[in-house]
Amino acid sequence: MKIGVIGTSRIGGTLGKVWASAGHDVMFGVRDKPRMDDLPGAIGAIDEAIQHGEAILFAIPGRAMLDAARSLELGGKIIIDATNGGDTPEQPVVQAMVSLHPGAFVYKAFNTLGFENFQNPTFGDERGDMLFIGPEAHQERVAGLIRDVGLNPLYVGDLDQNGVLDAALSLWFGLSRRLGRHLAFRVLHDGMIQ
Ligand SMILES: NC(=O)c1ccc[n+]([C@@H]2O[C@H](COP(=O)([O-])OP(=O)(O)OC[C@H]3O[C@@H](n4cnc5c(N)ncnc54)[C@H](OP(=O)(O)O)[C@@H]3O)[C@@H](O)[C@H]2O)c1
Repeated sequence: MKIGVIGTSRIGGTLGKVWASAGHDVMFGVRDKPRMDDLPGAIGAIDEAIQHGEAILFAIPGRAMLDAARSLELGGKIIIDATNGGDTPEQPVVQAMVSLHPGAFVYKAFNTLGFENFQNPTFGDERGDMLFIGPEAHQERVAGLIRDVGLNPLYVGDLDQNGVLDAALSLWFGLSRRLGRHLAFRVLHDGMIQ
Protein backbone atom coordinates (compact mmCIF):
# COMPACT_ATOMS: atom_id res chain seq x y z
CA MET A 1 0.00 0.00 0.00
CA LYS A 2 1.16 3.58 -0.52
CA ILE A 3 1.53 5.13 2.93
CA GLY A 4 2.24 8.72 3.91
CA VAL A 5 3.78 9.05 7.37
CA ILE A 6 3.58 12.44 9.07
CA GLY A 7 6.01 12.59 11.99
CA THR A 8 9.46 11.01 12.01
CA SER A 9 10.05 10.59 15.72
CA ARG A 10 9.52 7.43 17.83
CA ILE A 11 6.09 6.47 16.46
CA GLY A 12 6.30 7.68 12.84
CA GLY A 13 9.91 6.58 12.41
CA THR A 14 9.34 3.15 13.91
CA LEU A 15 6.08 2.35 12.08
CA GLY A 16 7.34 3.77 8.78
CA LYS A 17 10.44 1.56 8.95
CA VAL A 18 8.41 -1.54 9.79
CA TRP A 19 5.93 -0.92 6.98
CA ALA A 20 8.70 -0.30 4.45
CA SER A 21 10.30 -3.61 5.53
CA ALA A 22 6.93 -5.29 4.99
CA GLY A 23 6.94 -4.05 1.37
CA HIS A 24 4.78 -0.94 1.59
CA ASP A 25 5.63 2.17 -0.42
CA VAL A 26 6.28 4.68 2.38
CA MET A 27 6.85 8.42 2.07
CA PHE A 28 7.62 10.51 5.14
CA GLY A 29 6.30 14.07 5.31
CA VAL A 30 8.45 16.57 7.24
CA ARG A 31 8.34 20.27 8.08
CA ASP A 32 12.09 20.71 7.77
CA LYS A 33 14.19 17.57 8.17
CA PRO A 34 13.50 14.12 9.60
CA ARG A 35 14.20 13.33 13.26
CA MET A 36 15.73 9.96 12.30
CA ASP A 37 18.51 9.77 9.74
CA ASP A 38 18.06 6.12 8.71
CA LEU A 39 14.54 6.31 7.33
CA PRO A 40 13.73 4.10 4.33
CA GLY A 41 11.59 5.27 1.40
CA ALA A 42 11.06 8.82 0.22
CA ILE A 43 11.06 12.01 2.28
CA GLY A 44 9.19 15.11 1.17
CA ALA A 45 7.01 17.95 2.36
CA ILE A 46 3.92 17.07 4.39
CA ASP A 47 1.53 17.75 1.52
CA GLU A 48 3.65 15.57 -0.80
CA ALA A 49 3.41 12.65 1.64
CA ILE A 50 -0.35 13.21 1.86
CA GLN A 51 -0.66 13.11 -1.93
CA HIS A 52 1.45 9.94 -2.01
CA GLY A 53 -0.50 7.92 0.54
CA GLU A 54 -3.69 5.93 0.22
CA ALA A 55 -3.27 5.64 3.99
CA ILE A 56 -1.83 8.47 6.10
CA LEU A 57 -0.39 7.95 9.56
CA PHE A 58 -0.40 11.03 11.79
CA ALA A 59 2.34 10.57 14.40
CA ILE A 60 2.71 14.12 15.71
CA PRO A 61 1.14 15.83 18.75
CA GLY A 62 -2.67 15.77 18.58
CA ARG A 63 -3.18 19.52 18.51
CA ALA A 64 -0.51 19.86 15.79
CA MET A 65 -2.34 17.20 13.77
CA LEU A 66 -5.57 19.19 13.81
CA ASP A 67 -3.75 22.43 12.97
CA ALA A 68 -1.91 20.78 10.07
CA ALA A 69 -5.02 18.99 8.82
CA ARG A 70 -6.94 22.24 8.29
CA SER A 71 -4.98 23.06 5.15
CA LEU A 72 -4.53 19.52 3.81
CA GLU A 73 -6.59 17.71 1.16
CA LEU A 74 -7.56 14.42 2.80
CA GLY A 75 -10.73 13.40 0.91
CA GLY A 76 -10.86 9.63 0.25
CA LYS A 77 -7.75 8.90 2.35
CA ILE A 78 -7.50 6.36 5.15
CA ILE A 79 -6.33 8.47 8.09
CA ILE A 80 -4.70 6.67 11.02
CA ASP A 81 -4.50 8.84 14.10
CA ALA A 82 -1.79 7.57 16.47
CA THR A 83 -1.87 10.69 18.62
CA ASN A 84 -2.53 11.08 22.30
CA GLY A 85 -3.64 14.45 23.62
CA GLY A 86 -5.22 17.32 21.75
CA ASP A 87 -8.81 16.38 22.65
CA THR A 88 -11.06 19.21 23.82
CA PRO A 89 -13.89 18.78 26.37
CA GLU A 90 -16.26 19.11 23.40
CA GLN A 91 -14.57 16.78 20.94
CA PRO A 92 -11.86 14.12 20.68
CA VAL A 93 -9.26 14.62 17.93
CA VAL A 94 -10.76 11.86 15.74
CA GLN A 95 -14.20 13.49 15.76
CA ALA A 96 -12.66 16.88 14.99
CA MET A 97 -10.86 15.26 12.03
CA VAL A 98 -14.17 13.90 10.72
CA SER A 99 -15.71 17.36 11.05
CA LEU A 100 -12.79 18.89 9.14
CA HIS A 101 -12.64 16.14 6.49
CA PRO A 102 -15.98 14.34 6.14
CA GLY A 103 -14.72 12.61 2.98
CA ALA A 104 -11.81 10.91 4.78
CA PHE A 105 -11.92 7.54 6.55
CA VAL A 106 -10.62 8.26 10.05
CA TYR A 107 -9.22 5.52 12.34
CA LYS A 108 -7.43 5.58 15.66
CA ALA A 109 -4.71 2.97 16.26
CA PHE A 110 -1.20 2.59 17.67
CA ASN A 111 -1.91 5.04 20.52
CA THR A 112 -2.44 2.55 23.37
CA LEU A 113 1.11 1.07 23.53
CA GLY A 114 4.56 2.62 23.75
CA PHE A 115 6.62 2.63 20.56
CA GLU A 116 8.97 -0.06 21.95
CA ASN A 117 6.19 -2.58 21.34
CA PHE A 118 6.16 -1.72 17.62
CA GLN A 119 9.90 -2.39 17.47
CA ASN A 120 9.39 -5.69 19.29
CA PRO A 121 5.76 -6.91 19.38
CA THR A 122 6.50 -10.42 20.69
CA PHE A 123 6.51 -11.77 24.25
CA GLY A 124 7.84 -15.30 24.07
CA ASP A 125 5.37 -17.02 21.71
CA GLU A 126 2.69 -14.38 22.25
CA ARG A 127 1.97 -11.21 20.32
CA GLY A 128 0.26 -8.16 21.72
CA ASP A 129 -3.17 -6.94 20.60
CA MET A 130 -3.66 -3.53 19.03
CA LEU A 131 -7.05 -2.00 19.73
CA PHE A 132 -8.38 0.21 16.95
CA ILE A 133 -11.52 2.12 16.06
CA GLY A 134 -13.01 3.69 12.95
CA PRO A 135 -15.60 3.07 10.23
CA GLU A 136 -16.12 -0.45 8.86
CA ALA A 137 -15.25 0.65 5.29
CA HIS A 138 -11.48 0.13 5.52
CA GLN A 139 -11.34 -1.81 8.77
CA GLU A 140 -9.58 -4.77 7.11
CA ARG A 141 -6.91 -2.61 5.47
CA VAL A 142 -6.08 -0.97 8.79
CA ALA A 143 -6.07 -4.43 10.43
CA GLY A 144 -3.55 -5.52 7.78
CA LEU A 145 -1.24 -2.63 8.66
CA ILE A 146 -1.45 -3.65 12.32
CA ARG A 147 -0.62 -7.27 11.42
CA ASP A 148 2.38 -6.03 9.43
CA VAL A 149 3.73 -4.54 12.66
CA GLY A 150 3.43 -8.01 14.22
CA LEU A 151 0.46 -7.20 16.47
CA ASN A 152 -3.02 -8.76 16.49
CA PRO A 153 -5.63 -6.23 15.35
CA LEU A 154 -8.62 -5.99 17.68
CA TYR A 155 -11.44 -3.86 16.29
CA VAL A 156 -13.37 -2.13 19.08
CA GLY A 157 -15.96 -0.25 16.99
CA ASP A 158 -16.58 3.11 15.38
CA LEU A 159 -15.12 6.42 16.56
CA ASP A 160 -17.70 6.73 19.36
CA GLN A 161 -15.55 4.10 21.16
CA ASN A 162 -12.67 6.60 21.53
CA GLY A 163 -13.04 6.52 25.32
CA VAL A 164 -12.19 2.80 25.35
CA LEU A 165 -8.84 3.56 23.74
CA ASP A 166 -8.20 6.39 26.20
CA ALA A 167 -8.93 4.00 29.07
CA ALA A 168 -6.58 1.37 27.60
CA LEU A 169 -3.85 4.00 27.33
CA SER A 170 -4.34 4.93 31.01
CA LEU A 171 -4.04 1.25 31.93
CA TRP A 172 -0.87 0.94 29.84
CA PHE A 173 0.72 3.96 31.55
CA GLY A 174 -0.32 2.72 34.99
CA LEU A 175 1.16 -0.73 34.44
CA SER A 176 4.28 0.44 32.60
CA ARG A 177 5.39 2.40 35.64
CA ARG A 178 5.80 -0.91 37.48
CA LEU A 179 6.43 -3.37 34.65
CA GLY A 180 8.43 -1.36 32.11
CA ARG A 181 7.54 -0.16 28.63
CA HIS A 182 7.84 -3.47 26.78
CA LEU A 183 4.27 -4.17 27.74
CA ALA A 184 1.21 -5.03 25.67
CA PHE A 185 -2.28 -6.45 26.17
CA ARG A 186 -3.68 -9.80 25.06
CA VAL A 187 -7.48 -10.07 25.18
CA LEU A 188 -8.96 -13.56 25.70
CA HIS A 189 -12.40 -14.13 24.24
CA ASP A 190 -14.71 -16.63 22.52
CA GLY A 191 -15.91 -14.18 19.87
CA MET A 192 -15.04 -14.07 16.18
CA ILE A 193 -11.61 -12.61 15.43
CA GLN A 194 -11.97 -9.64 13.06
N1 LIG B 1 6.18 7.85 22.05
C1 LIG B 1 5.28 6.86 22.24
O1 LIG B 1 5.62 5.74 22.73
C2 LIG B 1 3.85 7.06 21.82
C3 LIG B 1 2.95 5.98 21.98
C4 LIG B 1 1.65 6.12 21.51
C5 LIG B 1 1.24 7.31 20.92
N2 LIG B 1 2.11 8.35 20.83
C6 LIG B 1 1.63 9.58 20.21
O2 LIG B 1 2.16 9.58 18.89
C7 LIG B 1 2.47 10.91 18.48
C8 LIG B 1 3.95 10.96 18.11
O3 LIG B 1 4.72 10.66 19.24
P1 LIG B 1 6.32 10.61 19.16
O4 LIG B 1 6.75 10.24 20.54
O5 LIG B 1 6.74 9.79 17.99
O6 LIG B 1 6.74 12.10 18.76
P2 LIG B 1 6.44 13.55 19.40
O7 LIG B 1 7.62 13.93 20.21
O8 LIG B 1 5.11 13.58 20.08
O9 LIG B 1 6.36 14.42 18.07
C9 LIG B 1 7.48 14.64 17.30
C10 LIG B 1 7.13 14.64 15.84
O10 LIG B 1 6.03 15.52 15.59
C11 LIG B 1 6.41 16.47 14.60
N3 LIG B 1 5.67 17.72 14.81
C12 LIG B 1 5.55 18.39 15.98
N4 LIG B 1 4.77 19.48 15.79
C13 LIG B 1 4.40 19.48 14.48
C14 LIG B 1 3.60 20.34 13.67
N5 LIG B 1 3.00 21.43 14.19
N6 LIG B 1 3.45 20.03 12.35
C15 LIG B 1 4.05 18.94 11.82
N7 LIG B 1 4.81 18.07 12.53
C16 LIG B 1 4.99 18.35 13.84
C17 LIG B 1 7.90 16.63 14.79
O11 LIG B 1 8.47 17.20 13.63
P3 LIG B 1 9.75 18.21 13.73
O12 LIG B 1 10.95 17.29 13.73
O13 LIG B 1 9.60 19.04 12.51
O14 LIG B 1 9.63 18.97 15.01
C18 LIG B 1 8.30 15.18 15.02
O15 LIG B 1 8.38 14.44 13.80
C19 LIG B 1 2.10 11.83 19.66
O16 LIG B 1 0.80 12.33 19.45
C20 LIG B 1 2.11 10.87 20.86
O17 LIG B 1 1.19 11.27 21.86
C21 LIG B 1 3.41 8.25 21.26
